Amino acid sequence: MNAWISFTFVACLFAASAETASNLVCYYDSSSYTREGLGKLLNTELEVGAQFCTHLVYGYAGIRGENLQAYSLNENLDIYKHQFSEVTSLKRKYPHLQVLLSVGGDHDIDVDHPNKYIELLEGEKVRQIGFIRSAYDLVKTYGFDGLDLAYQFPKNKPRKVHGDLGTAWKSIKKLFTGDFVVDPQAALHKEQFTAFVRDVKDSLRADGFLLSLTVLPNVNSTWYFDIPALNGLVDFVNLAAFDFLTPARNPDEADYSAPIYHPDASKDRLVHLNADFQVDYWLKQGFPSTKLNLGVATYGNAWKLTRDSGLDGVPVVPATKGAAPEGFQSQKPGLLSYAEICGKLSNPNNQYLKGNDSPLRRIADPTKKFGGIAYRPEDGQITEGLWVSYDDPDAASNKASYVRVKNLGGVALFDLSYDDFRGQCTADKYPILRAIKYRL
Ligand SMILES: *[C@@H]1O[C@H](CO)[C@@H](O)[C@H](O)[C@H]1NC(C)=O
Repeated sequence: MNAWISFTFVACLFAASAETASNLVCYYDSSSYTREGLGKLLNTELEVGAQFCTHLVYGYAGIRGENLQAYSLNENLDIYKHQFSEVTSLKRKYPHLQVLLSVGGDHDIDVDHPNKYIELLEGEKVRQIGFIRSAYDLVKTYGFDGLDLAYQFPKNKPRKVHGDLGTAWKSIKKLFTGDFVVDPQAALHKEQFTAFVRDVKDSLRADGFLLSLTVLPNVNSTWYFDIPALNGLVDFVNLAAFDFLTPARNPDEADYSAPIYHPDASKDRLVHLNADFQVDYWLKQGFPSTKLNLGVATYGNAWKLTRDSGLDGVPVVPATKGAAPEGFQSQKPGLLSYAEICGKLSNPNNQYLKGNDSPLRRIADPTKKFGGIAYRPEDGQITEGLWVSYDDPDAASNKASYVRVKNLGGVALFDLSYDDFRGQCTADKYPILRAIKYRL
C-alpha cells in the first residue's frame, strides 16, 4: 500500500517535471510569404510546422512614425489578403495553438523616425494610450490570443577588433570613458518601459489576452528590463540568445554566433555573449525559470573569408571581410537558412565539385556547447571563402536539453521560414523544429 502510494507520488512528480519544458514558441515572419523562389513559405507549409508549436508569434507589426500607433507593416498581405485571419484561424484546426501578434523586431525600420520606440516611452500618456488601443484593436479584430512586444532598444556596441598593441590601452581607456554606453538615459527608459508594459497588460486583461516580451539580440537586459517588476506583468519572455556576433556587426572577425556557453576565455571574448549568461542573468534577478523561453535561430551567420583568415576555420577567425553573399533562399547578405547551409555541406551532388562550388567542411562540436561550423577557406582555386556558424538539428536539440536541465519554459524558434520547411536536405520537413520538439 505504502509502496503503491509512493510509486504514484513519484510517477506524478515525474509527470509534472516532464511537463515543465513544454513551450515551443514558433516565430512566423510573414515577410517570408513575399520572398521569391524556394524561400517563400506558403500557408500549407506553415501549417505543417505550426502543428508542432504551442505558440505561433506573427511577426511583425510596427509603430507608425507620425502618430506612434501600432499598425501592420504589410497591409496588403496582412489585411487585404487576410493573412492575419488565415494564420489565427489555424487555431480552429489546432486548438492547442495560441497565436500572438508581435510588434517590433528588426523589421520595423523607419529612416524618418529611427527613434520611435524610445519616443513612445518618453512620450505623453495620450500617445501611449493611442498605441495601446491600436495594438489591442489589431489583436482583437484579427483573432489573436495576445500581443508580443519585440521592443527595439539601442543595441550593445560590437566588440572592436584592434591590433595587440592597442588592446590594453583601449580597454583601460574604455573603463574611464564608458565606451560601451549606448544610451545615457537607459535607467530612465527602463523605468518607463516597465510602466508602459503595465499599461499594456491592463488593456489586455479583460479579454484574457496573453502578453509576452521578446528580448532582441544584443539588447542588454541589465539596462532595459526591470526583471522583478516585469515578472508580474508578462506571461513569458523569449530570449533571442543568438546573433551575438554577426558579419554586419563584426565584419573583421568571425566567431560562434550562438554558443550555449562561453567558448574560451583565452581568446579575449566577452563573457556575456552566450545563451547561458543571458539565461542566468534573468534567473538571478528572480524571474521564474518556467516563464523563460530560450531563443534558437534556424539560420546561420555567414562571413566572407580572405587569404589571411587561415585554413583551419577555428574561431575566432581573423581577417574576415564582412557578410558572405546572400543565399538564393535567404536573400539577405550574411545570412543562410538551415536548408541552404545543409545543401552546401558535402553530399552526392557536390562532393566532386571544385573551386568556389566545392562543398563546405564541417567542424564538429563534440562538447555540444557551441554549435556547428562549416567553412571553405580561400585556397588555390577557391577565391570565395565562406565561414558559417549555425545550429543544425543536433545543436538545436542540445539547446532543448539545456532548457530541460535548467527547467526553463521552453524554446522559442526564430523562425519557421529559415528551417528546412520543404525537406530539401533529408526529406524531413522542419528538421530543426522536430529535433527540438522531440527533446523537450
Ligand atoms: C550589459 O552590458 C554590461 C557592460 O558591457 C555587461 O557588464 C553586462 O553583463 C551586460 N548585461 C547582460 C545581461 O548581457
